[in-house]
Amino acid sequence: MRTPTRRTVLGAALAAGTGLLTACSSGSMKGMDHGSMNHGPTSGTTGAAAPAGYLAPNGPEVAAAEARRNPGPERKVALTATETTLDLGGRTVRSWAYGDRLPGQEVRATLGDTLAVTLANHLPQPTTLHWHGLALRNDMDGVPGVTQADVRPGASFEYRFALAHPGTYWFHPHSGVQQDRGLYAPLIVEDPREPLAYDKEWVVVLDDWVDGVDGSTPDAVLAELARGMGGMDHSGGSGHDMAGMTGMPGHDMAGMTGTGSAPGGTPNAAGPSRMLMGAQSPLLGGDAGDVAYPFHLVNGRLATAPETFAAKPGDRIRIRLVNAGGDTAYRVALGGHELTVTHTDGFPVEPATAQALLLGMGERYDVLVTAKDGAFPLTALAEGKNATALAVLRTGGGGAAPDAAVRPAELDGRLVTAGQLRAAPDVRLPAKAPDRTVRLELTGGMAKADWAFNGRRYDPAQRYPVAAGERVRLEFRNSTAMWHPVHLHGHSFALPGDGPRKDTAVVLPGTTLAVDFDADNPGLWMVHCHNVYHAETGMMTVLGYRA
Ligand code: C2O
Ligand code: CU
Repeated sequence: MRTPTRRTVLGAALAAGTGLLTACSSGSMKGMDHGSMNHGPTSGTTGAAAPAGYLAPNGPEVAAAEARRNPGPERKVALTATETTLDLGGRTVRSWAYGDRLPGQEVRATLGDTLAVTLANHLPQPTTLHWHGLALRNDMDGVPGVTQADVRPGASFEYRFALAHPGTYWFHPHSGVQQDRGLYAPLIVEDPREPLAYDKEWVVVLDDWVDGVDGSTPDAVLAELARGMGGMDHSGGSGHDMAGMTGMPGHDMAGMTGTGSAPGGTPNAAGPSRMLMGAQSPLLGGDAGDVAYPFHLVNGRLATAPETFAAKPGDRIRIRLVNAGGDTAYRVALGGHELTVTHTDGFPVEPATAQALLLGMGERYDVLVTAKDGAFPLTALAEGKNATALAVLRTGGGGAAPDAAVRPAELDGRLVTAGQLRAAPDVRLPAKAPDRTVRLELTGGMAKADWAFNGRRYDPAQRYPVAAGERVRLEFRNSTAMWHPVHLHGHSFALPGDGPRKDTAVVLPGTTLAVDFDADNPGLWMVHCHNVYHAETGMMTVLGYRA
């Protein structure tokens, strides 16, 4: 996708005028049958012609698949994407969010409901909503230029779809790097026949934060990363501004940050350099990330002003963990407690105990804990980046508040990864030989910012074909020097060996991960790295159901 410059963003905002006159995106025609509206690629912004021979996102097959989900009662939600000021806890930033809060107000619905969300776009840029992890009707998947037209500034769009699976999900835009602003919120689909028993529920959303800090924006970070490392001076001499290493007090950055200088030596107009090099993590197989974030947040709060979750000693608490970050894996532990892992990416697993978990961007884990007596840190370590985010579990009045920088010993305890889990028997993918294998080699690197699948940067007109009814194997071969959280839209795949059902899975450098899914949800579905900067520089493609 294009990288909007300040100028084009401003231009779009000016062209939008008051916004009201331009509220002509298809979704603003409320009450219309979506099946009759043109969400097709021709109405998108990419200008790429849609290849023939594939099902349309708003075609009859998609409507038929939706009808089979038996859409139930409506759950109405109104969301406004807007520029706002967010209080991270003693520090305010200008950013973009859903309403005036971070994360956005959680959406909670029940399995079988029809979710009806009206998105009003008050941003200066076009946007969309993507429902991460849901197997939903394709024309509601929120990918501009592929499954719908952009929702332009001043316009609105109604998302309307049946909820087919219970679990922990989240939503965010699928436009540029908007997700790395404050535009994200959890989506919880409750199971009316919930098999787990628990007293309390705590939704915990992790995020790496740069927007509005000392002039930085995700677009400026993308522009800096997209220049690659070609413009940097590798001699260790004057080209490096080591002052950039210090970040904010209490948030020492591991490794080295660059200069923010363009190849020509022009200072970056939008904030200090945020390029991160040399961040290492054995858990991630080497290079941990590309972006030096000044802040790491739990539920929108800095570690110095953490959210406190109140419970009673002995309470069984279901914690729903979501990594909404742009470029950070989080290692998570609750001081003094063991975690019983019950779900990942919405789907149940055979319960497993762990002291720590590692979440790539886009991944979710549900855990049960039995609360002890006191005040305990829920710490999210920015893996390989030597910084932490914090929330506090407090039962009763006793116990001093944990220190902001505390690193509970459990962080270095027994860590369970998705590959060690097994799917719960009722969601196991039945054994079947794949009818088709789609091979996706993860290629490119930070030096040239040429992240891609099979050496080809994202082209919205490209299709990897699949056919309805097939068992499809996606084979991700990571030839890069970095880990990638790969994500498939509209389906949950199975990790090998009766592994968990997931929609996002970490592929370490130099390894191959083969995942299987049943092609049972017709349409055009994205596959991409959930590092938003890798996706935006090219590691993204489209699986298309053949007509
Ligand atoms: Cu969480 Cu393609 O998205
Ligand atoms: Cu990646």
